[in-house]
Amino acid sequence: MYKEGKARIKQGKAFLNPRARFLRDISVAFIADKSTKKTKILDATAATGIRGIRYYLETNAKHITMLDMNRSAFRSAVQNSAANKVKADIISTSLQEFANTTKERFDFIDVDPFGGIAPYVYDAMKVSKDGTYLMLTSTDGAVLCGAHASACMKIYGAKPMHNELCQEAGIRIMIGFVAGVAAQFNYGIEVLLSVWDAHYMRVFLRLKHGSAAALAAVKSNGYLHYCRKCGFRRYENGFIANVSPCKECGSPTDTAGRLWLGSLYQKNEKENLLKHFREDYEGISAIKMINEEYDVPFFYSIPIMTKIMHIQSVSPNEVIRKLKEKGFEATRTQFDASGIKTNADFRTLKECIKD
Ligand SMILES: C[S@@+](CC[C@H](N)C(=O)[O-])C[C@H]1O[C@@H](n2cnc3c(N)ncnc32)[C@H](O)[C@@H]1O
Ligand SMILES: [Zn+2]
Repeated sequence: MYKEGKARIKQGKAFLNPRARFLRDISVAFIADKSTKKTKILDATAATGIRGIRYYLETNAKHITMLDMNRSAFRSAVQNSAANKVKADIISTSLQEFANTTKERFDFIDVDPFGGIAPYVYDAMKVSKDGTYLMLTSTDGAVLCGAHASACMKIYGAKPMHNELCQEAGIRIMIGFVAGVAAQFNYGIEVLLSVWDAHYMRVFLRLKHGSAAALAAVKSNGYLHYCRKCGFRRYENGFIANVSPCKECGSPTDTAGRLWLGSLYQKNEKENLLKHFREDYEGISAIKMINEEYDVPFFYSIPIMTKIMHIQSVSPNEVIRKLKEKGFEATRTQFDASGIKTNADFRTLKECIKD
């Protein structure tokens, strides 16, 4: 028997990864302060039913629908729901088939498939409404982060990065893709939380209906131009990439995109997370890191900068202190233990590293 939160789960033949606990805990926290007993949640890829069960037991939401197209997983979700005294609609079907036949619309939709989210987003839109929260997990890091660049171009319509910025670029490609699909349904997206760990990319979004919101969201997509020679980067919103040599050193740049260049977090959502977990919670340092992160596109890897600058290694915390002394924002980032995010210009950053 696997215990997690208030749920007691028998795995049987369904998939269950204890490593994903952190993301499930965050999802419970995310829903907890937004739900009432009328809230409708769709756990679209239920497996053992652990998410739907936890949402029922640990939030106010009492209208839970679980789907799984795998027959053994469906049976497991039924048995686990009964054992946990959870009343839910559990359906042995795919999200795609369900979305084409139901008239229901959901307040929260959780999609947690094997691999990437691309085949699910279009159908998730069909069961959404204005204000729906989408909670989406991708585990196709190799695709989004550039190890399989051609798969990323094929599936997400975006060119990935394959360097130290690849994880952040990957999560931004994933969000940019959702913005594009949502726009087809006349929804814009607001990004409320983004979480990356070694295996998972999870984003929490809210849909906003209307063509202005949809257009604004797709206009938040664009390109990252990165110079491997000197570390300078430039990003630009828009549909057409203006590729040019690096403004600092004249070398050719590497371009990724289209990808999301808007915020990855909303401040109040980060603060809510922090309030929800106690100091002794296992994932508290990751939550604190997310809470602290200055929300601008793309971090600087300090070891890579010092290598490029041919100087000895320096501690990221020292660079942060220097930047703050000069009046800039500067923080660590969840995407790289030795990376920093800042609003300082490139030359000031280099001066602070040199100092
Ligand atoms: C990674 S597991 C889900 C794990 C679960 N959410 C958890 O937290 O433990 C993915 C599940 O999605 C199911 N699945 C895959 N494609 C699906 C689809 N199109 N519609 C519904 N379920 C699907 C699989 O059968 C599998 O049980
Ligand atoms: Zn350069």
